[in-house]
Amino acid sequence: MSKLVICDHPLIQHKLTFIRDKETNTKDFRELVDEVATLMAYEITRHIPLDTIKVETPVAIADAKIVSGRMLGLVPILRAGLGMVDGILKLIPSAKVGHIGLARDHETLKPMEYYINLPTDAKERLLIVIDPMLATGGSAIAAINSLKQRGCDHIKLMCLIAAPEGVKAVQDAHPDIDIYIAALDERLDERGYIIPGLGDAGDRMFGTN
Ligand code: PRP
Ligand code: URA
Repeated sequence: MSKLVICDHPLIQHKLTFIRDKETNTKDFRELVDEVATLMAYEITRHIPLDTIKVETPVAIADAKIVSGRMLGLVPILRAGLGMVDGILKLIPSAKVGHIGLARDHETLKPMEYYINLPTDAKERLLIVIDPMLATGGSAIAAINSLKQRGCDHIKLMCLIAAPEGVKAVQDAHPDIDIYIAALDERLDERGYIIPGLGDAGDRMFGTN
C-alpha cells in the first residue's frame, strides 16, 4: 500500500493558512504556494540515496556525500500545478519538467487530457506529479495512468490539500504511489470542492474565475 505523508512542518502549516484565506490576493497566493512547494520538496527528497566521494578541502581529503540514484522529473498538472514548479526547482534545479494538461468537466467532474509533453528520458527518472488539489482524485489518477502507459513507473504525487476521498481513490488505483500532502481536509462538497480547502486553485493562482 502506498504511503501517505502529511508534511506537517510548522512553516508549511503557517503558510498554508494564508493560502486558504479568501482575502489573500493573487500575488501573495502565488508566492505562498511557491514557498510551500520548496519546503515540501525538502520533505519529498528526504530519502533519496547518497554516494560517498572524495573531495579535497583546502586542508585535507574528505569523504563527502553526493546525491545519487535516479534523476528527477517534475510533472505539473495544468494549470494549477504550474504554481509549484519554480519552488521545487529552487531546491532541485537540474530536474526536467514535463506537462500534463487536464481539466475537470464541471458537470461530470471527470478529467479530460488536452496536452502531454514529457522529457525524452522520463522513463529513467523519478517523476513527481504536482497538483495543489487532490479532490476526487480523478486528475491525479489520469495523470499517473498516462505516465504509466508511457513506461514511467517511478512516480510520487505531491499536493497541497487532499480530501480523504481523493487519497483513497489514488491509493486504490495506484497502490505503488506515495502521496505527499500538506493537509488532509474533511471532505468533498457536492460540486467536488474540498471542504474547507482553498477554493479553485487555478483561479486563485492566475486571477481568473
Ligand atoms: C483542479 C485542480 C486539480 C483538480 C483536482 O483543476 O488543480 O487538477 O481540479 O480535482 P480532482 O481531484 O477531482 O480531479 P481544474 O480541473 O479545475 O483545472 P485548472 O487547474 O485548469 O483550473
Ligand atoms: N479543484 C480545486 O481547484 N479546488 C477544489 O476544491 C477541488 C478541485
